[in-house]
Amino acid sequence: MAQFPTTRLRRMRQHDWSRRLMRENTLTPDDLIWTLVVTDKAHSEPVASMPGVTRLTVADAARAAVEARALGIPAIAVFPNVDAARKDARGSEADNPDGLVAHAIKAMKDAAPEVGIICDVALDPFTDHGHDGLIENGVIVNDATVERLCAQALTQARAGCDVIAPSDMMDGRVGAIRAALDGEGFQHVMILSYAAKYASAFYGPYRDAIGSSVALKGDKKTYQMDPANTDEALREVELDIAEGADMVMVKPGMPYLDIVARVKSAFALPTYVFQVSGEYAMIQAAAANGWIDGERAMLESLLAFKRAGADGVLTYFAPRAAKILNG
Ligand code: PBG
Repeated sequence: MAQFPTTRLRRMRQHDWSRRLMRENTLTPDDLIWTLVVTDKAHSEPVASMPGVTRLTVADAARAAVEARALGIPAIAVFPNVDAARKDARGSEADNPDGLVAHAIKAMKDAAPEVGIICDVALDPFTDHGHDGLIENGVIVNDATVERLCAQALTQARAGCDVIAPSDMMDGRVGAIRAALDGEGFQHVMILSYAAKYASAFYGPYRDAIGSSVALKGDKKTYQMDPANTDEALREVELDIAEGADMVMVKPGMPYLDIVARVKSAFALPTYVFQVSGEYAMIQAAAANGWIDGERAMLESLLAFKRAGADGVLTYFAPRAAKILNG
């Protein structure tokens, strides 16, 4: 057993070079997935609760894809803010082949085909009640929702989406989406499952960003997971893998690093983590007040995800972090 004074762990921490030599984890632009909000409004506009984040028009989103390529960011995850007039109880807009998401996918793939495009599958950006699924007699119904999600996923795949990312937490949706994709010849389209997604307070600013916070009635506790649970996360991940998920995700991020570590060590699958809107907003707000060094806190938070075992991080910080990492 190592013992003081023979063993002194500070010895190796003395110099920048020796610290670099013993560094166990690194962060590079390859680890970043840029979470990007698109809007069908005529102009791009800032999101008030997420300083530094802008809802982008389709044209600006295409420019962002070019920027992502230049920065070495492998992929972009797209989140739509559609006009309230387009929302209804069924989320009809979700599978509109001529809708905002389809337009954004095409524009970004045209502008920078080398950048992977990931699309969220869930009805909440398109429902007038703000829920991810269909409601019957006050209940979010599972199987009928899954049918809608399959239609939404197919619309995204037809538009050129590379990765389908179901974020709705309905049971059985990964298998149903895999079958629907394969049935139309989209065997090459990947699935990144929001496998362990918790009913979290940290999504607040996002609902503002996509315009569903005003709409949302009630909470999402009958489909998203209880923040108190860990074993259940492993069961969720196991099922999604069995249903054909290529990659899995844990969400939110920083308060759930234990889940990331457990999922990665249990399944050794490509594992991602979503640093959600509330986590972003907290760092930005504290930095704006001069209470923390925002840049250091950003990089430290991203590195922590790597240390926990994540293969990559979905983050609103992606372009800013990539610029710094590229020097
Ligand atoms: C929708 C969805 C949410 C987020 C991603 N997809 C919100 C929710 O489930 O209510 C959250 C993203 C963030 O907070 O940054 N299914």
